[in-house]
Amino acid sequence: MALKPRKTVLLYINGVRHEIGADRAGWMLADYLRVSMGLTGTKIVCAEGDCGACTVLRFFPGLGKKNAGRSREFLSVNSCITTIAQLDGSSLVTIDALAKGDELNPVQEAMKSCHGSQCGFCTPGFVMALSGLVEKKIGAGVGGKLDRKEAQNALTGNLCRCTGYQQIVDAAASFEVRTCDSVGKRFYNGAQEKELKAALAKPVSLASEEFIFFAPVGLGEACRFLARAPAARPLASATDLGVVHNKGIRRIEKALSLHLVPELYALKISSSGVVSAGARVTLAELRRALKEKCPEVARFLDLFASPQIKNIATLVGNVANASPIADTPPFLLACNAVVKIAGPRGKRSVPLKEFYLGYRKTDLRKGELVASIEFTLPAAGELFALYKVSERKDLDISCVNAGLALGLDKKGAIRGARLAFGGMAATPVRVARTEKILEGKVPSAELLREAQASLQDELTPLSDVRGSSAFRRVLAGNLLKRFFREKLEIQS
Ligand code: FES
Ligand code: FES
Repeated sequence: MALKPRKTVLLYINGVRHEIGADRAGWMLADYLRVSMGLTGTKIVCAEGDCGACTVLRFFPGLGKKNAGRSREFLSVNSCITTIAQLDGSSLVTIDALAKGDELNPVQEAMKSCHGSQCGFCTPGFVMALSGLVEKKIGAGVGGKLDRKEAQNALTGNLCRCTGYQQIVDAAASFEVRTCDSVGKRFYNGAQEKELKAALAKPVSLASEEFIFFAPVGLGEACRFLARAPAARPLASATDLGVVHNKGIRRIEKALSLHLVPELYALKISSSGVVSAGARVTLAELRRALKEKCPEVARFLDLFASPQIKNIATLVGNVANASPIADTPPFLLACNAVVKIAGPRGKRSVPLKEFYLGYRKTDLRKGELVASIEFTLPAAGELFALYKVSERKDLDISCVNAGLALGLDKKGAIRGARLAFGGMAATPVRVARTEKILEGKVPSAELLREAQASLQDELTPLSDVRGSSAFRRVLAGNLLKRFFREKLEIQS
């Protein structure tokens, strides 16, 4: 028997229960906090997920027993680009609740005493991003001072437009984690978990004049809804759609959320290095799972977006969004990824290199959605590198990105060349002609020059604000040159 859908979403904010209906569930969380709750500590500055001023901490308890305890941490997320509806089942903590009365918590106290507290726009976000790192450390049983490098990484999603970061990093490194109370312990308890989990077992259906939101508990139902309502957008984290919505370019009006479908949280890695990531697997979870097995992916993901984005954005969302300069498709193309699609007629698989049909156009048919991505990590001994060229190192949109992999046989000849680029065509691409040139040959400076020349013919980059077509061609050739120099010590 079909479960009766809920007409509200349920979440806890600073330990207080909120049931929110269709009239406000389409609001961005930051607006709800500030306007409906008067919690003005959370700031809205860029409204694009870039500056971190709106950072809050979020815990999602998972679905049923299977996904229980995936992570007990309260993770930093941006509240300016995330709708209330997407946060159904979450427990959230905002800057307003950190202090106990007039007593600042150790992070706030450190920011004050190290003069890291600057203006009222950026400071709350810095405190919350550092608090997210503290939660992680508490969860891992680490009680000492924060490492400066780690603190810098945790703050890559927070911008100060005027002063600087030195005192903030000094503050981060000045206190002992063991002196901090876990926000999880302060604001989350068994009764809350029981209630949230019971709610998460039931679908959600919200409808107002401005916002239609459906969250089924099964994949079949999701596909049937999409077939009936082709204008509905499947939402993962909406870290891109949220920006477009805030800019007024395209509103999130009709949305399908997959957050109640248990099978989509699966992340499996086989002994032969085949990774399968469901549509709800976040980039932070993927990074954590691959950190030891493929450090190059973890390093690359450190450059990809902010912790706030990675804590909620999914690998499948990055692929299905079909941006020609998305950062994960070149890596996935070089790892022979296959897109697993669910639809009204069942499931099918499409190699990622055939999935993109044109600019922002995919092979998805009516009622279909991406259920998971499967890819194979580079084999032991294979040469593998991921590159991203952008104006700023952290948290910037790529001009060009690349995933490059080469195997070498016993005689030193190239086997299984896989070269993939983003930002070099209307879609992310593998360069089959150039791969063929390399195949079976022993690497040399001459071969590199031949491959570089072939790339210039094979790629058709667009010109836009991030780089002209000619500039991008040079970049692609230079990335291949860098790969040969770093991995094979060959210069052209
Ligand atoms: Fe800048 Fe949200 S207001 S990231
Ligand atoms: Fe707040 Fe610079 S933006 S001090």
